[in-house]
Amino acid sequence: MKSFWQLWRDRCGRLSPLRMAALALLLFPLAKALLDAQAILHGARPLNDLIHRAGFWALIFLGVTLAVTPLRRIARYGNLIEVRRMLGVGAFCYIATHLTLFVSSQMFDLGKVAHEISHRWYLIIGGTAWLGLATLAATSTDGMVRRLGGMRWRRLHQAVYGIALLALIHYFQQTKADVTVPIFAASLFLWLIAYRLVAWWQDTSELSTLTLLALSIAVSLLTFIGEAVGIGIAFHVSPLRVLEVVFDFDVGIRPGWQVLAAGLAVVAIDFVRARWNARVAQVRAVAAE
Ligand code: HEM
Repeated sequence: MKSFWQLWRDRCGRLSPLRMAALALLLFPLAKALLDAQAILHGARPLNDLIHRAGFWALIFLGVTLAVTPLRRIARYGNLIEVRRMLGVGAFCYIATHLTLFVSSQMFDLGKVAHEISHRWYLIIGGTAWLGLATLAATSTDGMVRRLGGMRWRRLHQAVYGIALLALIHYFQQTKADVTVPIFAASLFLWLIAYRLVAWWQDTSELSTLTLLALSIAVSLLTFIGEAVGIGIAFHVSPLRVLEVVFDFDVGIRPGWQVLAAGLAVVAIDFVRARWNARVAQVRAVAAE
């Protein structure tokens, strides 16, 4: 029998390399912050630096949690589902830290915290996403799944897509200068949601390699267009002028290319795994004859 805190063990109490890897991934930002401790402490705003780090990693782990379902199908590695809950709760731990650090930046004056949150749009949106994530974390136990019933639990947890959208808006709103990273993050979330929509539309759980390729190209094109229109509106320039620098790699690799590279990596994994599985099935069939 394993204790609930022995996160590195599976349900049967055995050591699980997959769980250990997920735990290491979740602890990585903490280890990095410790390694960067000197730089953080001597920086201009140490507390603000930590608030940013916790918020950023919460968003990353939210994305990683959403990536589990597509990735387990694409990599034909069903066991990945074993760590989805751990990753989701991990994302919540970072977001709880994010809020706690914010409260400490307000000297634990809860009246001031409430005033700040209710008077700034990006904090109202972040706060709503926070409450949503807290609800999902609180209902993530086996007991809550049983109490709510599978169907109601699944419906409730579909709120994660809305929460991710709010978190991304919050991220964009507080980004003052370069929006390359927020656009890349948003395009990855778009890919993950588009994957589910296409699977639902095709009434299948597995998308073909060709569909994955088309999806990645479409998301990449949408990212280029979205970025050009966004920059066009923000800086009053023609989106066509923004699109002109897409092939100018001296000014940086645009998020559209970055999401295309990530999409092509996924297509490659799918291609290799599909052929590998077909080969194994062939060898087994020959051996059985
Ligand atoms: C009550 C809830 C929340 C509060 C009070 C809050 C507060 C803040 C503050 C003060 C900042 C820094 C702004 C600045 O320096 O000008 C920030 C940044 C950020 N927050 Fe939140 N936030 C909340 C919820 C969330 C949620 C739910 C997420 C995501 C799941 C999130 C993700 C982020 C990200 C990604 C950043 C930017 C990090 C970076 O610059 O790399 N926040 N938030």
